[in-house]
Amino acid sequence: MIVIIDFGSQFNQLIARRVRECRVYCQIEPPTVTAEQIRAWSPEGIILSGGPSSIYEKNSPRVDAGIFKLGIPILGICYGMHFMVDTLGGKVKQASKREYGFAALTARQQKGLFAGIGKETVTWMSHGDSIETLPKGFTISASTANTKVAAMASTRKKFFGVQFHPEVEHTAKGRKIIRNYLFDICGCKPSWTMKSFARDTVEQIRETVGDKKVILGLSGGVDSSVTALLIHRAIGTNLTCIFVDNGLLRKNEADQLKRKLKSHLKINIRFVKSATRFIKALSKVSDPERKRKIIGKEFMDVFEAEALKIKDADFLAQGTLYPDIIESQSAFGGPTSVIKSHHNVGGLPKKMKLKLVEPLKYLFKDEVRKLGRTLGLDDDLVWRQPFPGPGLAIRVIGEITKKRLEVLREVDAVLQEEIRASGYYRKLWQSFAVLLPIKSVGIMGDGRTYENIVAIRAVTSKDAMTADWARLPHKLLGNISNRIINEVRGVNRVVYDISSKPPSTIEWE
Ligand code: XMP
Repeated sequence: MIVIIDFGSQFNQLIARRVRECRVYCQIEPPTVTAEQIRAWSPEGIILSGGPSSIYEKNSPRVDAGIFKLGIPILGICYGMHFMVDTLGGKVKQASKREYGFAALTARQQKGLFAGIGKETVTWMSHGDSIETLPKGFTISASTANTKVAAMASTRKKFFGVQFHPEVEHTAKGRKIIRNYLFDICGCKPSWTMKSFARDTVEQIRETVGDKKVILGLSGGVDSSVTALLIHRAIGTNLTCIFVDNGLLRKNEADQLKRKLKSHLKINIRFVKSATRFIKALSKVSDPERKRKIIGKEFMDVFEAEALKIKDADFLAQGTLYPDIIESQSAFGGPTSVIKSHHNVGGLPKKMKLKLVEPLKYLFKDEVRKLGRTLGLDDDLVWRQPFPGPGLAIRVIGEITKKRLEVLREVDAVLQEEIRASGYYRKLWQSFAVLLPIKSVGIMGDGRTYENIVAIRAVTSKDAMTADWARLPHKLLGNISNRIINEVRGVNRVVYDISSKPPSTIEWE
């Protein structure tokens, strides 16, 4: 296992990904973690991440200096290297020449981190500080034209530092450098697979839960389905899932999910039909945040009432993923402003004193999909695109009525059919339609129409933090538009959303 200390770099998740691609397990920890905690985990190595601070500034993040006495190899990247230098008695100062972007790196020797890299290689830099004096016992192992200490090493102690970012794609031999660190220096074994993860996690769930009961809010998405499978494998019928049909789902979705989940998962599932109360509560509401709050509250009430019927439930399971955890524990306290109040099974049901089980909390989305496949989850569920908790309510812009929900449902069904048939479904993070609150003039046959406009949104993304609008082929867009206007009454114009996130968000509300 490798421990990654998070000094706030935007690339932290990438470091974790690179390590896991080598089939080595890793965990990202905040700088508040202690050397004692790390010792207890017995990691093979530690990686100190980069970060936006300067080490000589007041309040720059630091981790327990005791980590340098654990006898564990340590790799510092950018700010992580500066922290290592500063703590071990060297000096870091503002560089006379800042370095952003590509830089040709010359390695002094082809060993250690640089074994098999060649003398010259392209790296990616992003720093305004440089190392002026090395700590005792360190030597320079690579330089660039602007940065004398582009890499350093104390081979005896197995401490290494690199000024560049080996985790980004732009560093040509970055993966090899990370492999050298993990396998040659730390002695890790490439043994972390989804099969071993599943086996260990099932074991842990059994230990934690014992013979108590667990409740899980099932949405039909891949995260909650995989969570259900894992927990079911661990405790069988002591798991009860609750599926709330809020009337804001896609066409036929509730029925399809019901069939699929029931037959496939063979798990105790309670389906709660509550469309009427959701739609009533949303009547005449057009503010996006109010919609989200109302839906969150209704969901909680329905879920709680159902959960209270289950006797002896001690645990609530959630499909929380790693990016959510990293966000909230970042060195700088996570997101500072609420862009949208996301709703999942947000808080715990109030009246029940439940403990949390989050078996996916160290996984990324694509790892959850892999795990789903390993557990034998239906392909359709494994590859389902994310669908927001508030459902179509945040895609009918403005006031929600049953009629408008119906129009959007029909439009969305056509879109889904076309996207699936084109082979794009799995390539896209999400593809969906939005019903706009304005009308436009059109002509159908010989007559004037004055009807609704829908926007099509299709994005690619790795984790929803950033997203790009998908360059769908014009022919496909043409088919989608033709079919929607011909087949769905009430729509006479289709537009395509070409905004990325940021500055836009994926959903419109
Ligand atoms: P935004 O619109 O903020 O969305 O770019 C990022 C991702 O989150 C999904 N999303 C939600 N998921 N509950 C959810 O479970 C929510 O309230 C919610 N709002 C947005 C969105 O579909 C995208 O994948």
